[in-house]
Amino acid sequence: MATVKRILVKSAAGNYAVVCGNGILKKLFEQVEKVGRYSSLHLITSPKVWKALGNRVPSGGRRNAKLQIHKFEDAESAKTLQSLETIARALVQSGADRQAGLLALGGGVVGDVAGFAAASYLRGVALIQIPTTLVAQTDSAIGGKTGVNLPEGKNLLGAFYPPKLVLVDPELLRTLPDREFRSGLAEVIKYGVIADAKLFGFLERNFERLLGREAKVLKQVIWRSIEIKGLVVSRDERESGLREILNFGHTFGHALESATNYKKYLHGEAVAWGMVAAALYGHEIGVTPAADASRIISLVKRMGKLPDWPDVSPKHLEELMTADKKSRQSRLRFFLTSRIGKAATYEACEQAKLEQVLRLTRKVVNTEPVLHG
Ligand SMILES: NC(=O)c1ccc[n+]([C@@H]2O[C@H](COP(=O)([O-])OP(=O)(O)OC[C@H]3O[C@@H](n4cnc5c(N)ncnc54)[C@H](O)[C@@H]3O)[C@@H](O)[C@H]2O)c1
Ligand SMILES: [Zn+2]
Repeated sequence: MATVKRILVKSAAGNYAVVCGNGILKKLFEQVEKVGRYSSLHLITSPKVWKALGNRVPSGGRRNAKLQIHKFEDAESAKTLQSLETIARALVQSGADRQAGLLALGGGVVGDVAGFAAASYLRGVALIQIPTTLVAQTDSAIGGKTGVNLPEGKNLLGAFYPPKLVLVDPELLRTLPDREFRSGLAEVIKYGVIADAKLFGFLERNFERLLGREAKVLKQVIWRSIEIKGLVVSRDERESGLREILNFGHTFGHALESATNYKKYLHGEAVAWGMVAAALYGHEIGVTPAADASRIISLVKRMGKLPDWPDVSPKHLEELMTADKKSRQSRLRFFLTSRIGKAATYEACEQAKLEQVLRLTRKVVNTEPVLHG
């Protein structure tokens, strides 16, 4: 097996390691046994993920009990209390006690719901994240946010519940549908913009190899993203300041998702549009130099054709942005970059410019044939 990398993420409830390596899933039990000894082990996944990856999951270790497999649907519409109940009842029925360990194998939906199940089952049992999407490997599995949606909105019910271990095997991404993979690249570009000019340059030079999921390039990019996310959440677990910079492109992106009832875009696609808008707005109000805005837009374009900008007025998008929970005391805030590799928070200003950007963004992307679509 190729080299294995490891970082420690700090958390008030106990530090944990993120371990990353191509093929590391084969060593699942060895890794699990390093962090604890469990009375029973329960792998929570979805029928789809299990179909794609089940044959890669080893069935038992030397010391720990065999895995019990529990499946629930992982559509965003199934990220509900109902799914949480299904999982909890399956755990009771299979005899899981307080020393049980839960393994979440899947994308952000599985990780968030299984994570919340681990946080609340018998007031908390051990959680191990095994993310299988680009979004989950570079973002959602690290940082301890878990939860479900309510009919009134996304992620309204949840807990901060850090895992004992995050096991990242980039090889698991081979079976990921193309659209999911491309969409996940938005968050990777985001890490470059907010924290690492070198990563951004690497992406510019290697984007086609990345789209081709070349093992070496993919692992490098995933690892650097993990390091950045790990560092940010280690310093600010509860999002009281620094962690907010992870929202670059998200103020606009959330508005697009909300304007289209979360049906038109994958999250990363909305964030991709959001980063273009943030680059243009940053430029308009004198924060982002033209050359940096242009590099961000060019890289986003290489992700492939995005679903079109929605047919809603700039005013409506502005209202949605103001309503977003990320804006404090209903004052609209943006996360902008003053140069690639650096980002900060800015209060919204110059409303006319914001509206202009909301009109302009749709014309900047998707107006020409896309090479890699
Ligand atoms: N907790 C956090 O900090 C955080 C951060 C970002 C996103 N999220 C949440 O994550 C969710 C989105 O997660 P996601 O983007 O990972 O997608 P997802 O969990 O919705 O999975 C996308 C699709 O890919 C399938 N899939 C997953 N892995 C696969 C594989 N290796 N091979 C084949 N198919 C596979 C799934 O079955 C699903 O159909 C949202 O609910 C979002 O709110 C949470
Ligand atoms: Zn995001």
